[in-house]
Amino acid sequence: MASVSLESVSKNFGTHTVIQGVDLQINDGEFVVFVGPSGCGKSTLLRIVAGLVAATKGAVTIGGEDVTDVPASKRGVAFVFQSYALYPHMSVARNIGFALETLGLAKDAISQKVSTVARMLKVDHLMDRRPRELSGGQRQRVAIGRALVRQPEIFLFDEPLSNLDSDLRMEMRMEIAKLHDDLKTTMIYVTHDQSEAMTLADRIVVLNHGRIEQVGTPQQLYHAPDNRFVAGFIGSPRMNFLAVSPQTGANIGRISGPGNLSIAMVANNPTGPIAEIGVRPEGLRLVAENEGRITCTLERVEDLGHEHFAYCRITDDTVWVIRLASAPSMDKIGKSVGLDFADAAIFAFAADGKRVLLKGSSSGPAEVSEP
Ligand SMILES: Nc1ncnc2c1ncn2[C@@H]1O[C@H](COP(=O)(O)OP(=O)(O)OP(=O)(O)O)[C@@H](O)[C@H]1O
Ligand SMILES: [Mg+2]
Repeated sequence: MASVSLESVSKNFGTHTVIQGVDLQINDGEFVVFVGPSGCGKSTLLRIVAGLVAATKGAVTIGGEDVTDVPASKRGVAFVFQSYALYPHMSVARNIGFALETLGLAKDAISQKVSTVARMLKVDHLMDRRPRELSGGQRQRVAIGRALVRQPEIFLFDEPLSNLDSDLRMEMRMEIAKLHDDLKTTMIYVTHDQSEAMTLADRIVVLNHGRIEQVGTPQQLYHAPDNRFVAGFIGSPRMNFLAVSPQTGANIGRISGPGNLSIAMVANNPTGPIAEIGVRPEGLRLVAENEGRITCTLERVEDLGHEHFAYCRITDDTVWVIRLASAPSMDKIGKSVGLDFADAAIFAFAADGKRVLLKGSSSGPAEVSEP
């Protein structure tokens, strides 16, 4: 097990800066998940930790030792990729044990380690099969087994489950969580999947254009995002936003906006001028036209069985999504309706995207725990 520390790490490919001055401390035994839009640098940052890509600037420390110039094979890390690329001509057992063969370990020792790992990953009944004779989930288990058998100090996963169907993803997600509970090895995991990030992570790192937007527990990022980007990125469906016309200066008293939006802000006591508000789909209620805080047109309802999503148009280019437990009456479609929400459901943002704290709103790690 080992801690990982990145100090002012940057990476350029030619003139293109892909990682920009990243500072990050990962604790020994921690499960950290990198998320962010496609191309934001998640894989590159993971590869910098692994030693597969050299940082242009900055330092990488593993277990207190500066490994910036240490090759990948000497860093004590094991990597599991999205495309697991097993050796097609080798059996499951040899695929798992191959890294130990190349290290020159004795046959008996290899076979013992391979059986332990195979039992743990429930592929011990498949030892003689070739990869093409396995299901996607079994192949992915073998790929994880191949990493596991090396007893690395750090596991790095780059979207390991994205080729699997949703049932298998869920099953493998539970197994990776269990693996971490059992081994307590430091793990860094890249994913596009919100549920994977929220359920697996001790802490999530949100990346955007090669910079860290925020690092925090899943709950911190969901309840107390630092800025509009994180607020919009964490949560599915994403947070609804609306540009508003705030009173500025000493008179921050009321925010008004499209859809007859009018919120008295006196009681909320914002810390600065507000350019945009946000409310999550689960923070909204559909009410009669004149009973809500915003008026809009109900355009569409999606029925997912256990929940419903209503789509309400506020302006030509703003549609809000509402998560409902039961279906609204279908004769409301195309009609004007109201949306209501509690003060506590309102997130507010300044023109530069920074979150504006409102009285009573969750303000982040330090203050969340205050009585
Ligand atoms: N070897 C390379 N040479 C040049 N540019 C590269 C190289 N590897 C990555 N990039 C660029 O660096 C940026 C970050 O790539 P990276 O693969 O880290 O993104 P990502 O966040 O993992 O994206 P995705 O979610 O699509 O996997 C992209 O713009 C990509 O095109
Ligand atoms: Mg990637």
